[in-house]
Amino acid sequence: MKLRRWLAAGAVAVVTATALNVVPATAGRPYDPAAQSLRELAKRHGLYVGTAVDMAALNDAAEPRYRELAASEFSTVTAENVMKWESLEPTRGTYNWGPADELIDFARKNNQRVRGHVLVWHNQLPAWLTSGVADGSISKAELRQILRNHITAVVTHFKGKIWQWDVVNEAVSDPWDTPSTLHYKGFWAQNLGPGYIADAFRWARAADPKALLFYNDYNIEAFGSGNPADDKTQFVYNMARDLRAKGVPIDGVGAQGHLGTQYGNFSTLQVAAALRKFAGLGLATALTEVDVRSQITEGVEAGDSAEINPRLQASAANFSVLMQACLAERHCLSFTLWGFTDKHSWVPGAFSDPPEGLATVYDENYQPKLAYHELKSDLIFSGPPYVLPRIPQHPRR
Ligand code: G3I
Repeated sequence: MKLRRWLAAGAVAVVTATALNVVPATAGRPYDPAAQSLRELAKRHGLYVGTAVDMAALNDAAEPRYRELAASEFSTVTAENVMKWESLEPTRGTYNWGPADELIDFARKNNQRVRGHVLVWHNQLPAWLTSGVADGSISKAELRQILRNHITAVVTHFKGKIWQWDVVNEAVSDPWDTPSTLHYKGFWAQNLGPGYIADAFRWARAADPKALLFYNDYNIEAFGSGNPADDKTQFVYNMARDLRAKGVPIDGVGAQGHLGTQYGNFSTLQVAAALRKFAGLGLATALTEVDVRSQITEGVEAGDSAEINPRLQASAANFSVLMQACLAERHCLSFTLWGFTDKHSWVPGAFSDPPEGLATVYDENYQPKLAYHELKSDLIFSGPPYVLPRIPQHPRR
């Protein structure tokens, strides 16, 4: 709905209710916003709320709750793993579309949009590709052609079914890498040079002119020093600015939002300012992989509430900061969780020393945690004048 019409409708409702001296709209009907799903509550803002989906969990008949919640709570889904190169083309020239197609089908049945993840990343590449480059049987020129073919094949296969593509993922180093000066890192930059980034966006656009094309990365939720040598957000900002200046078809930047309670909180305004700055380049934004992990102590394992509660509270506060920042910036199109239950989260598998977990909004028994309720409150209690409906992004030509 157009903003003016939206505000006008609200004004009419208030004036009418005041004139009639009645409770508006829902009188006589039970109306409990807290009983609505995340996706229903987000709709008023034009915001899509999503989750990464683990296909094994989705298909596990012993866990019907996973499928139910994936369908009922979310209006967009992302493949956690099955659209990655190693899954789609485990053997050179032989594509395995099955699991990814299943997710697309699930999304269609549940009226959900799909974020495509991921076209170009240095992780989860098939062994035939990495070993072929390592042993010299795949030349640099051939590698570039292989990348072009992959992007074209994948984007063409899913043409018309993907809302936002993560075209390039995690291309930039971190301050703790060597050298510490931020740079383009990983397999693709090492073998093709950073020019592969612009190529990837152009090839993706050629294959599906209607999909929104995103650059996606972690630790870019807020600006730091402003020096691209050590401020990853600034580095990515400069990259996106330069791509836009060259006419490269990039439509958005995704901030993954993998946070941890041990690191402290961003402020909402700080994150909102970062999203707004990217929007200033004419880009959409999205929170694409949100979770907030905590260190697991013996006390947490033993169920000590004095250790668990502060973690749940800090986690909820971090989720809320990202949601409020997204709501405040009208070009922030979607807010996606990287899994929604602690039963199926990448975190315990990735962090063992010290162990980390508790990263999602439902516990291992599918009970909603404080973070879930806080996300709902953010969606319920925000509105004009500072929170207005999203401004749709259209692909650049
Ligand atoms: O499929 C094999 C299975 O056959 C085997 O038995 C099992 C034993 O470990 O491993 C399975 O593969 C695992 C795969 O997930 C599927 O479950 C890999 O070991 C594991 O490393 C892989 O982790 C994924 C990780 O990306 C890889 O880097 C996580 O599930 C996934 O959540 C994570 O997602 C990334 C985003 O794509 C990009 N941003 C960061 C985010 C978190 O790391």
